[in-house]
Amino acid sequence: MARRKKVYEGKAKILYEGPEPGTLVQYFKDDATAFNAEKRDVIDGKGVLNNRLSEFFMQGLNGVGVPTHFMRRLNMREQLIRAAEIIPLEVVVRNVAAGSLSKRLGIEEGTALPRPIIEFCYKDDKLGDPLVTEEHIIAFGWASQQDLDDIVALALRVNDFLSGCMMAVGIKLVDFKIEVGRVWDGDFQRLILADEISPDSCRLWDIETGKKLDKDVFRQDLGSLSDAYTEVARRLGVIPHNSGPVARPTLIN
Ligand code: TMP
Ligand code: ASP
Repeated sequence: MARRKKVYEGKAKILYEGPEPGTLVQYFKDDATAFNAEKRDVIDGKGVLNNRLSEFFMQGLNGVGVPTHFMRRLNMREQLIRAAEIIPLEVVVRNVAAGSLSKRLGIEEGTALPRPIIEFCYKDDKLGDPLVTEEHIIAFGWASQQDLDDIVALALRVNDFLSGCMMAVGIKLVDFKIEVGRVWDGDFQRLILADEISPDSCRLWDIETGKKLDKDVFRQDLGSLSDAYTEVARRLGVIPHNSGPVARPTLIN
């Protein structure tokens, strides 16, 4: 049997060649890593949950006119996506102080920010994804000023949409990270949301109790990561309320 071609393997996902030119298959692994992969584990069912959650958010965003790479979910762990040239930036949007912002600036975790704050990190594992300024981004040609203006507008629209989805189910969207890709329509470039949106790339706190429902549960050893992600998926109606833990599926295709 012919084996499909792996295009890229990251810490949590694998990209395979898609069925048609300009498409890729994005496979969600169960691997969890933190602190630039210094801490790692395999969390049964995480890939299944993130595939479903990312589908839910990207489909919702496509529906309100925010362009994303998501085309359709193929199975438990895979989705068909539009191939895009990834801009080498991690775009972080923050509503509440937490994580590296709290550490860097000494702002107590949980402090509401006066407005959403956007940060850019240069995507390079060897360097530990360092924070960079717009000056660096433009000077080194990672993106143009026009790209940056478009990225900020996209990031803020994603923030509005995701904050609303979460608020409706009693969850505060503290912060999140997105990646943006370029696609070409003839000679014209468009920017689209790429990668994933899942509790791996967001901070999500229960509004009532402050309980963490995101990858900080793994980073800080706060309990079961799959229980936290299952709770997010249940509240959003992505999986049924009466479902048990998401088992590790044996069938992929
Ligand atoms: P930070 O506070 O550690 O900088 O993280 C900000 C947000 O970005 C948080 O929601 C987690 C997410 N994030 C990723 O998705 N990937 C990463 O490699 C890191 C460091 C953070
Ligand atoms: N995704 C990064 C890593 O594995 C860091 C993190 O999410 O904390 O290493």
